Amino acid sequence: MTARRTILGGMLGLALAGSTSGFALAQEAVKVGLILPMTGPFASTGRQIDAAVKLFLAKEGAVHGGRKIEVILKDDTGNADTTRRLAQELVVNDKVAVLAGFGLTPLAMATAPIATQAKVPQIVMAAATASITEASPYIARTSFTLPQASEPMADWAWANGIKKVFTVVTDYGPGIDAETSFANKFKTAGGTVESVRVPLRNPDFAPFLQRVSEAKPDALFVFVPSGVGAQFMKQFVERGLDKAGVKLIGPGDVVDDDILEGIGEVAQGAITTHHYSAAHDSPANKAFVEAFQKANPGMRPNFMAVGGYDGMALIAKALEATKGDTSGDKLIAAMKGAGWESVRGPIKIDPDTRDIIQNIYVRKTQKVGSELHNVEFATIKDVKDPVKARK
Ligand code: PHB
Repeated sequence: MTARRTILGGMLGLALAGSTSGFALAQEAVKVGLILPMTGPFASTGRQIDAAVKLFLAKEGAVHGGRKIEVILKDDTGNADTTRRLAQELVVNDKVAVLAGFGLTPLAMATAPIATQAKVPQIVMAAATASITEASPYIARTSFTLPQASEPMADWAWANGIKKVFTVVTDYGPGIDAETSFANKFKTAGGTVESVRVPLRNPDFAPFLQRVSEAKPDALFVFVPSGVGAQFMKQFVERGLDKAGVKLIGPGDVVDDDILEGIGEVAQGAITTHHYSAAHDSPANKAFVEAFQKANPGMRPNFMAVGGYDGMALIAKALEATKGDTSGDKLIAAMKGAGWESVRGPIKIDPDTRDIIQNIYVRKTQKVGSELHNVEFATIKDVKDPVKARK
């Protein structure tokens, strides 16, 4: 029986290979070029996404739409010129069908013209400046946008008696998005806001935190990119801001699950609004966290990992929809409007903007048993990127 099937299979294979090239094509792997900062100051983002991509392939299998997905991982060290060069090489030499990853906004922006020119879908798994999806019609995003996470924070702060806020953000796309979207909403509600911006490279928060200390606000709203939170929190405590009763608020990047245990007790009581917490209470998420930790001992999945996992799910779903056709136009068309139950909750790729529609959760950093977690206590459902929604 087995031998007969093998012979028949072999003959069928020969016949098809002789008559069409389609069969040979169907056997070829679909290459996904995954560009991440695996070294340098943002290596935690690379490590998280790489681990999640591997977990997706292990759990869901590599074959989708009849085609095997082969991931080619490249380290851009967080340097945009390197990202651009790697993207070019992946498209021209490796003939990748999809580009994915993008740990920081400048890295995603540097790649956008290549995606457009080559008609290759670019899946942004991490970077979160609102305008990124407008840089190429081939970009789809599975992370979040800073305005999407920051506007709900303004609503929460005002509703909870906070009147005067100082904002401290990293001085580039996502920080500026976080600051302006929060400040506009909070001022419209009636609050007052003072703002400072801190450099992206080698930030020293001390002089900025000194100004915050003198201003005596009710709350300090902070955005720093994933991985930098521990350094920020250390200086927050050194300046005595925790003891001065300044409440820490912001999007969830500063209390990122990857570094939360390292930050320690000082993070307790922070209120943040974000799309993912490892403590998200659902059976799917519990299974995800357990599988992630089993495959990566000592590591807790953060929102970057979930962006990577869902990015792979999006590529797999698109391949299933096109039945393995890797034409960039067909893949991106299949991605528009795709929706499913993620470990973060229900998500959907907005067919108009290719950005992600998702729940934003209000969370409090607190002890759960002996571990620090961002515990979700309120949900704002199906949030679109507000900047594009207003256009
Ligand atoms: C970005 O550069 O877009 C970025 C990086 C890290 C974050 C959020 C946004 O945590």
